[in-house]
Amino acid sequence: VLESLKGVNRGRLHLAAASTVNYFAPRLLAVFQRRYPGIGLQLDITNRESLVQMLEANAVDLVLMGQPPSRVEVESEPFMDNPLVVIAPPEHPLAGVADIPLARLAEESFVMREPGSGTRQAMERIFAEQGLAIRHGLQMTRNEAVKQAVRSGLGLSVVSLHTIELELETRRLVVLDVEGFPQRRHWFLVYRQGKRLSPAARAFRDFVIAEASGIAAPVALGG
Ligand code: PGA
Repeated sequence: VLESLKGVNRGRLHLAAASTVNYFAPRLLAVFQRRYPGIGLQLDITNRESLVQMLEANAVDLVLMGQPPSRVEVESEPFMDNPLVVIAPPEHPLAGVADIPLARLAEESFVMREPGSGTRQAMERIFAEQGLAIRHGLQMTRNEAVKQAVRSGLGLSVVSLHTIELELETRRLVVLDVEGFPQRRHWFLVYRQGKRLSPAARAFRDFVIAEASGIAAPVALGG
């Protein structure tokens, strides 16, 4: 055991994660780093489109993302729930309203992430599946900017529940009770098919699959 641990506890591990993963990745890395202090960690945070390009270029060991790509052959394993919710400022007329039909949201304007965002893709798919169009308001490249814009009354948005833990606690944002939401999604651990994982990458993969959910599961939404 000691011998194999020695092999694991060194080298570099290059990880890349969707910008939404940023909200819980540090908690995972803290536990992993304590266990394997000899592994040098690099984490790149970017949007879905850039992650797919990194996979295509075989430029990273492992990727944490919201939806595995279809244009690159990959191994992908779900490791945690990733509910998508509709957010509004607390003073919004729809706050506290039960069972809001999705069609009602087509009348509202939405703060959108950039076109390369997985969150944006998911949001467009949800509306398109019901034959509805999203009224696009501001476009912003960061989850933080989106949340501030919604908070300031510039529109509604759809985000991963992981991004709004603090805002829910302090009631700066509320989750709307919309038909079909929370949308059930998962986080996936992804790497290129056929890639030979280093011992460090294998250790991180095993750690995420076994323990991520216990460390960083999304908060429960109050009824
Ligand atoms: P993104 O990531 O919106 O930052 O691309 C989230 C996802 O892929 O679901």
